[in-house]
Amino acid sequence: MPKRAGLDGLRRAAAGCTACHLHELGTQTVFGEGPRSARIMLVGEQPGDREDIEGRPFVGPAGRLLDRALDDAGIPRDDVYVTNAVKHFKWRPRGPRRIHDTPNEREMAACRPWLRAEIRVVDPLVVVCLGATAARSLLGRDFRLTRHRGELFQLDGGPRITATLHPSAILRGPPERRAELLAGVADDLRAAAAAAR
Ligand code: URA
Repeated sequence: MPKRAGLDGLRRAAAGCTACHLHELGTQTVFGEGPRSARIMLVGEQPGDREDIEGRPFVGPAGRLLDRALDDAGIPRDDVYVTNAVKHFKWRPRGPRRIHDTPNEREMAACRPWLRAEIRVVDPLVVVCLGATAARSLLGRDFRLTRHRGELFQLDGGPRITATLHPSAILRGPPERRAELLAGVADDLRAAAAAAR
């Protein structure tokens, strides 16, 4: 972990990270992207299949849904910094497909220094965790989305941190509930943007 590195230096260093075994599984480190001046940082769980191939966060199906929620909330994606709690794709094979596998505590802990470094450099006003995994990485393992969704937390003078549903949870849910769940995420993003003003 380079001391006092900017985003480019961190990205270069993270590309060679071997702090956990996931670097053997993923194609590449998927580092965060977005402006250093972003007031809002979005933190997902880990790159998916598409992100692993392209090397960019939230560019697959979940990313398209996130883009819609941001659009509905009136937040340009180019204004936010988007990253993940874990920066390699953890997967297991199912037939010809690579299926997402949830990162464990050890993998999250190994990657946390990168996330903390991104938060230190970007210094956003609000961090929005997309899903419980990201929220647990930053707020502790007792975090429950059902109980704490939309609450604003603050740790050690850092940015305020809140959490909403992960777009993949919407994709996994019943199609007839998608519009309603997406509207809920857009509402949470709108509230985060108001808190970042
Ligand atoms: N899901 C995530 O949590 N992050 C991504 O980048 C893509 C899908």
